[in-house]
Formats: sequence, structure tokens, C-alpha cells
Amino acid sequence: MKILILGGQGNLGTQLVKVFAADFETIAWDRADLDVLDFSLLNEKITELAPNLIINTVAYNAVDKCEDKEEFELALKLNAELPAVLAEIALERQITLIHYSTDYVFSGTAEKKEFTEEDTPNPINKYGESKFAGEREILKRAEQGLNFYLIRTSKLFGPKGSSPVAKPSFFDIMSSLAQDKKELTVVNEELSCFTYTLDLALATKRLWELETPFGIYHLVNEGACTWFDGAEALFALKNIEVDIKAVRSENLLRAARRPKFSVLKNLKVKKLRHWQDALKEYISK
Ligand SMILES: NC(=O)c1ccc[n+]([C@@H]2O[C@H](COP(=O)([O-])OP(=O)(O)OC[C@H]3O[C@@H](n4cnc5c(N)ncnc54)[C@H](OP(=O)(O)O)[C@@H]3O)[C@@H](O)[C@H]2O)c1
Repeated sequence: MKILILGGQGNLGTQLVKVFAADFETIAWDRADLDVLDFSLLNEKITELAPNLIINTVAYNAVDKCEDKEEFELALKLNAELPAVLAEIALERQITLIHYSTDYVFSGTAEKKEFTEEDTPNPINKYGESKFAGEREILKRAEQGLNFYLIRTSKLFGPKGSSPVAKPSFFDIMSSLAQDKKELTVVNEELSCFTYTLDLALATKRLWELETPFGIYHLVNEGACTWFDGAEALFALKNIEVDIKAVRSENLLRAARRPKFSVLKNLKVKKLRHWQDALKEYISK
């Protein structure tokens, strides 16, 4: 069994490599190995490798920058064209494809706060639009027989990926800000679910190993919360004394709108543990 992980040095990719390599022949490619937007080289290399499973974690993730016209074009290449190309290759060669999407494909209003795997996306920002376009590319090939898992997740946290330009996640940013500041301002809205990258990697492996039926899955740690709730729990667990000032989303100057509510409900497979238990483990490492 041969597994190919694209974006193997990203935050999620690094955990996937650890988890899959423990049991399977696992090959990870990142920017240094190839630019995945060179689609003919990508096709050539995948054909030569002949993997049984491709896991794609490569994405354009800069939510605010994505509102810019040129950046949106790049986002569409990475978040929609790339999954389309991978789905074509996988379909043609009978390879299973795992691809990740986001809670930001949903609009999330007071009338509808939670979303199941069956709900229809309706993104309110450009990043969400680009990820939804990628979902549609995969679902189109699914109708032609593609073997796929489309996994929606949200608010990833965990160790920084092994890429030299890997970005720290929310809890690491909060911890380092608290070293220099006595007061922090944190958004007490945008109710959704944190997801520990190690838990997500293990749950991804379980989906595949158990031969779960192909389809869309929501994999997040249990328990919905705001960014403020996250910061409060972090500082309590680490015994850090800092004043946290709760603000509304509108108080932060950000180019992209965020859903006020985007809680992903996992109605199809074993639920992941509560986010506070995952956070406790993460900060104890
Ligand atoms: N982060 C979140 O909170 C979040 C929330 C919901 C869903 N997701 C989804 O989860 C998945 C994983 O996210 P993540 O945060 O782990 O992403 P990440 O850390 O940004 O990892 C993406 C990886 O892809 C690589 N990459 C980007 N462009 C490339 C190119 N042209 N050629 C080759 N490699 C390229 C990056 O390389 P470099 O390191 O060199 O840039 C990076 O290693 C994505 O699909 C994302 O949309 C993430």
C-alpha cells in the first residue's frame, strides 16, 4: 500500500506523514519536491509513483488576502483547479483521493448555526468561494466513479509544520502575545470548532482503514466555542495571567467577512474528543 501526501510539510501534512508512515509506505511531497501547479509534471510524477491513496493538504489559506483580485486567482488555482486535476488523475487510475475543505464554505447566521455533511454551502468570502469551487470539482468526478473522502474541518491547531514558512496556529500566537502584553483583545464571536491536527490525521487514517463509504465527512474536535473561549481556556490551563477583552468581529479590521456561526456537525463517524482535552494534551507536549 503506497500513500502520497501533498503538502507534507504543512501543519496538517506533517501530522499526516507521522501517522501514516507508522503503518504504510508513505511518500510526502512539498514545494521543494515540485510546484503542484505544474499540472503536467504532477501527473507525470504521480503516474510514475502509482500510489493507492493521494492525500491533498495543499491549499491557499490566507483568508483576508484572498479578497484581493490577483490573490483570488491564485486561490482558485490551488483550491479549485488542483483538486480538479487530482480528481481526474485519481479517477483515471482508480486511486482514492482525500481532500480537505473548510467550515468557511457555509454562511452561518443566527437562523442556522450548525451544519451537517448534507447541508448546501453558501460562502460569504472569497476563500470560502475558492474552497467550495474545489468541493464541486471533486463531487463532479464522484458522479463518474471517483473514490473520495471530502473532509471539512475548522480552526486547526497543533505543532507547526516542518516547512520553514509554516504558520503558528491560534493558541501559539496567543501564548506568545501573552508574553509581552498585559491585555489582549479577542473576538468573542464566530462560533465554530477547534481541531487538533494530530486528531484529524488519526481520524483521516481511520476513515480510510475502516473502508468507510466514500463521501463528505465533518471532522472536528467536539464542543463549539469562540476565539475568546479558546484564549480563556488556554490561559487557564497554562496559568497565565492576562486580561482578555472580548470584542465583536466588526471591531477587528479584516478584509474578509467570517461566518458568525459555522459549527460542523459530525453525524457520520466516531466523534473526535472534546477540544479542551486535545488542547490539554497539546500544551503538555
Ligand atoms: N488552517 C486551518 O485552520 C484550516 C481550517 C479549515 C480547513 N483547512 C484546510 O486544511 C488543509 C490543510 O491546511 P494547513 O493549515 O495544514 O495548510 P498549510 O499549513 O498552509 O499547508 C499547506 C502546504 O502546501 C504547500 N504548498 C502550497 N502551495 C504549494 C505549491 N504550489 N506547490 C507545492 N506545495 C505547496 C505549502 O508549502 P509552503 O510551506 O512552502 O508554503 C504547505 O506546506 C487545507 O485544505 C485547508 O484549506 C485549514
